[in-house]
Amino acid sequence: MKRRTYLGKEPTLWDGGPNPADQENGNHISMNYLRRKVALWGEGSSLLAENANATADVPVWSKPSYPANFVYNTHARRARATRSCLGREVLAGVKREVMMPLEKETLAVLPAALRALEEGFAALPAIDSQLPGQERIGEVLHQVAVRLRDNYPYFHPFYAGQMLKPPHPIARAAYTLATWINPNNHALDGGRASSAMEKEAVAEIAAMLGWQVHLGHLSSGGTMANLEALWVAGQLHHGKKIAASSQAHYTHHRISSVLGLPFAELPCDARGRMDTHALAERLAEGDIGCVVATVGTTGTGSIDPVPEILRLRTQHGFRLHVDAAYGGYFALASNLTEETRAAYDLINHADSIVVDPHKHGLQPYGCGCVLFRDPNVGALYKHESPYTYFTSSELHLGEISLECSRPGASAVALWATQKLLPLVRGGEFAAGLEACREAALTLAEHLAADSRWLLPFPPELDIVVWAPRAATVRIASELSQRIFTSAAKRGLHLALIRLPIGYFPVLAADPSARQDTVLCLRSVLMKPEHREWLSQILPILDAAYQDAAEEHES
Ligand SMILES: Cc1ncc(COP(=O)(O)O)c(C=O)c1O
Repeated sequence: MKRRTYLGKEPTLWDGGPNPADQENGNHISMNYLRRKVALWGEGSSLLAENANATADVPVWSKPSYPANFVYNTHARRARATRSCLGREVLAGVKREVMMPLEKETLAVLPAALRALEEGFAALPAIDSQLPGQERIGEVLHQVAVRLRDNYPYFHPFYAGQMLKPPHPIARAAYTLATWINPNNHALDGGRASSAMEKEAVAEIAAMLGWQVHLGHLSSGGTMANLEALWVAGQLHHGKKIAASSQAHYTHHRISSVLGLPFAELPCDARGRMDTHALAERLAEGDIGCVVATVGTTGTGSIDPVPEILRLRTQHGFRLHVDAAYGGYFALASNLTEETRAAYDLINHADSIVVDPHKHGLQPYGCGCVLFRDPNVGALYKHESPYTYFTSSELHLGEISLECSRPGASAVALWATQKLLPLVRGGEFAAGLEACREAALTLAEHLAADSRWLLPFPPELDIVVWAPRAATVRIASELSQRIFTSAAKRGLHLALIRLPIGYFPVLAADPSARQDTVLCLRSVLMKPEHREWLSQILPILDAAYQDAAEEHES
């Protein structure tokens, strides 16, 4: 076997070159070396430039073994998985198989699964499966791969910005496998097995939220799922208003206008939660038909006070829709505050709930889920279709959903993921959510203890928002923007958010403030790996702050 080199030279010990521990694992470049290089990102990106000329014949550097459930696992496994992630970023340009940044192990199990699928159709006369233009497929796919490099590293713990992460390998593999059949879950005529799998998987989500009886289905995402819930609300409370908080997802207002329903925006308290006093006042006007409570707001992960909203429902009789597109799965987490837990414990009193498997459910995009407590709302969907519903008198999912064609592959992927990682408290999936929450708590504690930062409130889930302490709102906003940019140059991807200055008493007192919002930093720590990676994320945040402060002074 050829001697391993790095960047065409023997790594020295200072470089963190051959390190006995790494050698044992087949690695010849130590983690310390990689970490130091990561810390240098943004300082001319010289490493990346160097790497462009890196030796192309570097043999396989390491072969981390990804268990199928590598996302949620033991510390040791997590360390293995994250090591390989780090490698890709640092050694971009070195022959790709040198590192294992992107999970590929499931590719190895796919052919056997595909053959098993094929056996089910073995009685059919053979068809010529030769692919025309096969060599071009490789070429075009290569172009696709190159184009896809133009992305932030959503799969890596250094991406700690928006709600983005890749699906679990089982979901990816099951989805891919299903595309050989390409079932359509609109009707049993188009996707028998995948429709059954959808009903099973959706029932498990409903059970997670406390519903043994329900009506529900998957959708293309949270927006479509919310649209269905509000459409049902509009049918049952004709012409009445939909009310949601100012921190609810922006689509609720838009959906209401699509449905021709009036919309009322309710203010929030200083923790981004619906102000129930304001809700009570609005309800007294008598024109609200549906209240949308957000359990896990997009911006701050705040939880609207479900117990109080339910108390108001007894008085005013509105329909309660819970948008738990982001937060729904945290029903399984054991490390919520008492107040947050109370909201989850009563969520099953809602009339409808939306949860997005393509957010915290480890699914590829295109997977939302709407659930109704009363299965009778299915009658509202009644329609005639002269083309479908012929092969079975059983319920076809298209009969209870607004969308027609829907990917059966989404249902297959979700079903497989939930088989591997059941939606139970104390299970591996729940442990992953708990790790995300721990990461958020640790980050929040760190920020609260550092006088350079302003933390408006501790996270309720795994989303943290904060602002740099500054003399004025304008300077705080400028600093946030600079820190965001500098962190990205150093390889750490955060997000930005505009929040009311009222969340920050220090900034709210600024007499020169011209705006009632301030630009803040935001981090969605939705990968369990974030918990361990904070030790590397924090120094970069620190360095980005220094950069921003120096830039500001100069
Ligand atoms: C709370 C909430 N509701 C709804 C949505 C919209 O979901 P989607 O983007 O899947 O349409 C989001 C998206 O971030 C969300 O966070």
